[in-house]
Amino acid sequence: MSDQVEWRVRDHLRPHRRRLAAVLVLTIVSSALMLAQPMLLSRLVGTLTDAGAAVLPPAALLVAAALGGALLGAWRTYLLQSTGEEFILGLRKALYRRLLRLRAAEYDERSSGDLLSRLGTDTTVLRSALTSGMFSLVSAGLTIAGAVVLMAYISPVLFGAAMASLLIGAAVVFSMGGAVRRASTQAQTNVGLMTVAMERALSAVRTIRACEGTEREVAELDSAATRARDSGVRIAALQAMASPAIATSAQIGLMLVLVLGGYRVAAGHLELGDLAAFMMYMFMLITPVVQAASGYTQVQAGLAALDRVREILKLPEEAADEPGTGGGPIAPATPAAPLIEFASVTLTYPNGVTALRDVDLAIAAGSRVAIVGLSGSGKSTVLSLIERFYTADSGTVRFRGHDVAELPRSSIRSQIAYVEQDAPLIAGTIARNLRLGRPDAAAERMAAALRGAGLDEFAESGGEVGGRSVGDGGALLSGGQRQRLTWARALLMERPLLVLDEPTASVDARTEGLLQDALDNVPSGTTTIVVAHRLATVMGADRIIVMDQGRVVDSGTHEELLDRNDLYRELASRQMLAADAVRG
Ligand SMILES: Nc1ncnc2c1ncn2[C@@H]1O[C@H](COP(=O)(O)OP(=O)(O)O)[C@@H](O)[C@H]1O
Ligand SMILES: [Mg+2]
Repeated sequence: MSDQVEWRVRDHLRPHRRRLAAVLVLTIVSSALMLAQPMLLSRLVGTLTDAGAAVLPPAALLVAAALGGALLGAWRTYLLQSTGEEFILGLRKALYRRLLRLRAAEYDERSSGDLLSRLGTDTTVLRSALTSGMFSLVSAGLTIAGAVVLMAYISPVLFGAAMASLLIGAAVVFSMGGAVRRASTQAQTNVGLMTVAMERALSAVRTIRACEGTEREVAELDSAATRARDSGVRIAALQAMASPAIATSAQIGLMLVLVLGGYRVAAGHLELGDLAAFMMYMFMLITPVVQAASGYTQVQAGLAALDRVREILKLPEEAADEPGTGGGPIAPATPAAPLIEFASVTLTYPNGVTALRDVDLAIAAGSRVAIVGLSGSGKSTVLSLIERFYTADSGTVRFRGHDVAELPRSSIRSQIAYVEQDAPLIAGTIARNLRLGRPDAAAERMAAALRGAGLDEFAESGGEVGGRSVGDGGALLSGGQRQRLTWARALLMERPLLVLDEPTASVDARTEGLLQDALDNVPSGTTTIVVAHRLATVMGADRIIVMDQGRVVDSGTHEELLDRNDLYRELASRQMLAADAVRG
């Protein structure tokens, strides 16, 4: 599968190779034009002291070199930045596609703040490393190399003096490089921790406030922010120590060159123009040396960011283990094949919890099935396996008689309207939430689905069906309204299999009756599987599956189970009858 090929920087730079080559050529030419200027100046100074020579040609050349260098430099900067943006666009596209398609288990342990920071912060850091960082390194390197060669050419003696002092400064800076890198990695990590802590706190802001936990969250953020400050201060201290070292060595170098150079000019060993050119090259070195140092740290930070991005791009997509066949409807393998069948299915989650042990069950097409059991008995896990969020460790799950491992997930999912436990709403309007499962739903159908779920009040708002906003995560609706909206979403999908996981967890008994009506009114032939803990829902089922500690312990009708199954009797009397009594 092409999406699964490992993501390599090299492959993604290849489409831009012509622009990058142009950038390199422009950099070389503009550096050369800059480096030519002191030489031209030297000639200009020479013509000033020589009465017979014409001043204009070297002066015109100098102006042309300065202007040309600046213009080409601007063009190169634009080309490089826009190529960097193209590259980052490609990387971001790959990254968010992968982030949305990982295997279900990958999301269980990762914090969404961490995933988000890789898409936002890390790609931005990487972009500046690629554009300004790499560019600084290359162009500064070229300028430094050119200046060094020309200085050595003009006067080896002066060059020796200048280099000796500059090398001392460079050695000081270089010896600090490792410490600066470590400190900036720490700073990045702590900023990341701050984002994760903030995301966690915002996701439960009311609960935290109700628990009077705001101060504790603030304290945690404080500690991450303070650590980021500490790393920043450490970097500042290192840089502060580096600059006097560089400045002093540069000053010593300049004085040495002036004294030595003046002496050599006086002695007639060196032209005045050459001394001027040499001094210009020395000054010309200052900016690129600083540039190269900061480019170096930027590239280091960029490499760290690239590692974090590639860590995600290396994770397999859910579809990686999919058979090559296309989607589409699934014909029954045999006329008698049940819609869903589990044959000694065992599933252990990545954290080691065995949620299902040797589960056998069969659900006939068109039947109405309820699954009951204590919390943690594996009911939701059965549904996750039907949706193929997880794959059985052993045993077989069959859909219309086909092993689900041999069917594309999309063709199974296109048969199912699934409402997960505590199904979330997405920010936006009621209509947007309804259309999630059916993007083309007509307004009348949506209005009917809303009425069917007892949400008449949302059917019209300002003339538009479901035009009201649900707020972040459905914050503007009541718990019951949120839940009923998820039913409406599922009913609107009109799929052959309707799967609801605890759909009545936060609705009152009267509203629960609405679900009964809705289930009674699904098109004939629809199979429904409902994980239920209310007697009303359970009693309407053709068959009830009882689960306990990851096993299916019994199945039958309400009367049969009441008769023979102790667990069911207990569930019925303790949980469901209580709820039923409320219903009156
Ligand atoms: N994504 C998961 N990762 C690890 N363990 C899980 C996950 N989901 C559920 N579990 C564990 O698996 C067991 C069964 O959970 P679940 O199927 O959700 O039970 P039920 O829906 O019947 O309450 C529980 O012990 C639960 O802690
Ligand atoms: Mg559950």
